[in-house]
Amino acid sequence: MKIAVIGLGFVGLSLTSVLASKGNNVIGIDVDVEKCKKIRSGIAPFFEPDLEKMLRIGLKKKLTITDDFSLVKDCDMIFVAAGTPQKSNGAIELSMIKKAVTSIGRVLAKSKKSPIVLIKSTVIPGTMQNVILPILERRSGKKAGREFGLISNPEFLQESSAIRDTKFPHVIVLGGYQTKFMKKAKSFFSKLHPNVSITITNHQTAEMIKYANNSFLATKISFINQLSNICQNIPGANIDDIAKTIGLDPRIGALFLNAGPGYGGSCLPKDMKALINFADRIGTNPTLLNAVEKTNQNQMENIISLIEKKLGKIASKRITILGTAFKPNTDDVRDSIAIELIKKLLKKKAKITIYDPKAMRNTMKIFEGKIVYAKSITDALNKSQCAIMMIHWKQFEALNNNSIKHMKRKFIIDCRRILSKKELDAEYYAIGIGKKE
Ligand code: UGA
Repeated sequence: MKIAVIGLGFVGLSLTSVLASKGNNVIGIDVDVEKCKKIRSGIAPFFEPDLEKMLRIGLKKKLTITDDFSLVKDCDMIFVAAGTPQKSNGAIELSMIKKAVTSIGRVLAKSKKSPIVLIKSTVIPGTMQNVILPILERRSGKKAGREFGLISNPEFLQESSAIRDTKFPHVIVLGGYQTKFMKKAKSFFSKLHPNVSITITNHQTAEMIKYANNSFLATKISFINQLSNICQNIPGANIDDIAKTIGLDPRIGALFLNAGPGYGGSCLPKDMKALINFADRIGTNPTLLNAVEKTNQNQMENIISLIEKKLGKIASKRITILGTAFKPNTDDVRDSIAIELIKKLLKKKAKITIYDPKAMRNTMKIFEGKIVYAKSITDALNKSQCAIMMIHWKQFEALNNNSIKHMKRKFIIDCRRILSKKELDAEYYAIGIGKKE
């Protein structure tokens, strides 16, 4: 069996590498020629734990990386993992996925194969039925369900654990018509992931499952963030003890209750906005989802208010941001809360210094010469009047009185309570911990 994966971002490249490492005959396809070159030489175009290791194992087996779409003609399964970014009104941008399925359709027109096309990209309910299926049928001149299969196959992997999540998913979702192709896909996945539950449903439900998943995660985060704000006004209260305890209730669950500066990244904010936009469009007022989003935006505003309360005017104050990636163990800064915060502080004319163990290069691409890039945590804190710890990188745990001794004003905002157990000679504020005055 030959498998093609189209779009070599986090989802596509992780899938390509894992399938290839298991000895499958895989073709990874991307329109970006430079990116393909890099991947072919065993270098991942972004930092993701274990990805390069898996990719290199795959490259020694039956993995081809190419920008040549025509190679899908011999494939039995074609996964599409094209990005679906956000338009300015919050709706999703389908141009990349339309382009990918148009190319597949053209190749299908000349192919003798009856492959299964599986869409991994996140798309709003109705997209498969109203956009993707018509493009494929029109371009190929063939009928879905008879001459080729079309299945919605949403992805749930998280960046920073993409390989583990690809190898050990918690669920497989297959949406579409109950045809011979669906049976084949089910058998493929049950062999690949024995003991993993498979949900077989229609396209629109599969599409909605993805949004339900991400919006529920966002809701958990905004919930705990709002509670953390309440805790901050109860002297001595600690959000982590609360999260840990309620997380033991199986009806609640322990994960995604880590309070902080709000959720960022290329998925949760985008998917929340797309779902809100979609709900509005079909006449359902998404009151709860709107509140989740608003709570998320407020988290950052709260940080700015605290700085202004303590430092007065922000203009010309030297502020250090520790952690600019959207979460630890990644170099991805897309929609990172830290990046948004820096933009707001720059507007207020702050002088910004940053440090991140992996995301310096990507941060530099955004701010170029407008901010200072430090070589270490201590270097970043030198002469600073305020330090904000945005995400929990392991190495931030080493910060101590010695590291802060050259701060001009020892004022620390710890969004992840990394230093909450240390005796610091500083004005220390942690999100979710009530200050004892
Ligand atoms: C998210 C989902 O978790 C994945 O299941 C999904 O497949 C993916 O989006 C996607 O749609 O592609 P990811 O964007 O990698 O994955 O990031 P998360 O781990 O969900 O974190 C998102 C944001 O929430 C980060 O800014 C993180 O710091 C924040 N977060 C997460 C918290 O503030 N608290 C938590 O308890 C968890």
